[in-house]
Amino acid sequence: MSRVLVLVGSVRRGGNTDLLARAFADGARTAHEVEILSVADSNVHPCLGCNGCYEMEGGRCIQQDDMSAVYEKLRWADTLVLASPVYFYGISAQMKAIVDRLHAPMRNTLGIRRLGLILVGAAELPDLFDPILLQYRMVLRFFGLEDIGTVLARGARDKGDVRSGNGLSQAYELGAGLQELRQEGV
Ligand SMILES: Cc1cc2nc3c(=O)[nH]c(=O)nc-3n(C[C@H](O)[C@H](O)[C@H](O)COP(=O)(O)O)c2cc1C
Repeated sequence: MSRVLVLVGSVRRGGNTDLLARAFADGARTAHEVEILSVADSNVHPCLGCNGCYEMEGGRCIQQDDMSAVYEKLRWADTLVLASPVYFYGISAQMKAIVDRLHAPMRNTLGIRRLGLILVGAAELPDLFDPILLQYRMVLRFFGLEDIGTVLARGARDKGDVRSGNGLSQAYELGAGLQELRQEGV
């Protein structure tokens, strides 16, 4: 049984990202432990770039904010799923703040082995997600993480719009199809 943390990157409660994250979690819960954490419930400040996390014991950050709770969940998880709305062809600022705060911990202290990505945007453009997908692939490679897959939902602008496409079923299927972690060295 895997321990999966789903980070929701939209402050719009009950919005499209929330719905997709919950559909993924419903699927994944059939075989794994799943926790959902939303930026709507946490106030995480952006990284200060001080590199203090390289020197602090346990890779801790000098900032005292809600990132402490996020670190705790991340220490518990072996699989991380980032769910974000597309904001100006990138992930949301709230999600980016969390990701940047993983600067040293991702390398040194966390046991995250796998990553997944759920994105939703209003446009129908075929290349809508390309900038984020490029970053995602770079992160996978840099940290040597396994890709569990992606869900890309286009054409969803208003709250609940995602219900009219097949994004929710894709998210559920991605969760339900999540395999056990491969043994290291096997
Ligand atoms: C600040 C902002 C920037 C956005 N930029 C884009 C964009 O570049 N491309 C796009 O397709 N949708 C964009 N959107 C639309 C959202 O991605 C879309 O409404 C999404 O469904 C919001 O997810 P949520 O309901 O979880 O908040 C933007 C929305 C906001 C608020």
